[in-house]
Amino acid sequence: MNYAMPHPEAILPSVVPPLHKATARVPGSSANLGPGFDCLGLALDLYLRVECQVTGGKLAIEVPDAQRAEIALNAENLVYRAMRLVFEAVHASVPGLHLSIDSGIPLSRGLGSSAAAIAAGLVLANALAGDPLDRHALLNLGIGLEGHPDNLAPALFGGLQVSSLVDGRALTLPAEIKHPPRIVLFVPDFVMSTAEARRVLPERVSRADAVFNTGRAALLIAALAAGDLAALRWAMEDRLHQPYRGAIFPALPRLIEAALHGGAAGAALSGAGSTVLAFCERPEPVAAAMASAAESLGLPGRSIEARIDFDGARVVPS
Ligand code: HSE
Repeated sequence: MNYAMPHPEAILPSVVPPLHKATARVPGSSANLGPGFDCLGLALDLYLRVECQVTGGKLAIEVPDAQRAEIALNAENLVYRAMRLVFEAVHASVPGLHLSIDSGIPLSRGLGSSAAAIAAGLVLANALAGDPLDRHALLNLGIGLEGHPDNLAPALFGGLQVSSLVDGRALTLPAEIKHPPRIVLFVPDFVMSTAEARRVLPERVSRADAVFNTGRAALLIAALAAGDLAALRWAMEDRLHQPYRGAIFPALPRLIEAALHGGAAGAALSGAGSTVLAFCERPEPVAAAMASAAESLGLPGRSIEARIDFDGARVVPS
């Protein structure tokens, strides 16, 4: 596997992209899964779709009316910023583009919508430029925008990804899931800012908590590889971030408890929130238990059933 970027001189400059139109489909994702803070991410079958066309004109971005308030329609747009990174890396000029973006991933809810936008831009620009970069090189370009690889890796590769920064570069490997569990997401109406959800975390943690999380994260990977759902109740416990994030999301422990009472094998905050993810065999009672707990807590939101995406970002010429 090649984790390095190709040497710039090994890439032929391409001024006119060989492909003029393409569509990307990129999965959302859930990071952390409890103990795997900043290193575990699972791709979900909620998709961002981006149609891209090379035009002679200025940048134009189209989104559905309901998403207009949340998606930038100018050069600040994440899909476009990621595309620029690729064109610059391969010494290609940035063409005039028309982007049509439709996010089936709830935005700012800890479901990897930003990482999906970045992944879409990366794979689209790479396709337009004739596929000069492999996915590991794209991941490393994209973490410049995202900061950490835990959502971007599953968005690009699909499945369960174990990622870590090594000397500033992202190394990611897929982990096996023997019997993919069903997934229920409770998506609150309120948004949680990742920056705010990171500000509430302590600078230092005790050795006991570090040891606790190391063990739980290792157990989680082993439990999913073995298809041992019964171990998830303990394997998804966390002491590094969820207890502190309860300060800005007080309903979190009650929602996790409700999911477990509803029959979930394990449950955790999805990424930096506000979604709560539960693994289970039978989604209906888990979805109902979380929805009912949320209602009794006065927390508006909705339950969504999801499955694991094993494809990652896909580009199809259109
Ligand atoms: N792992 C990050 C966090 C979220 O929990 O803050 C997703 O990148």
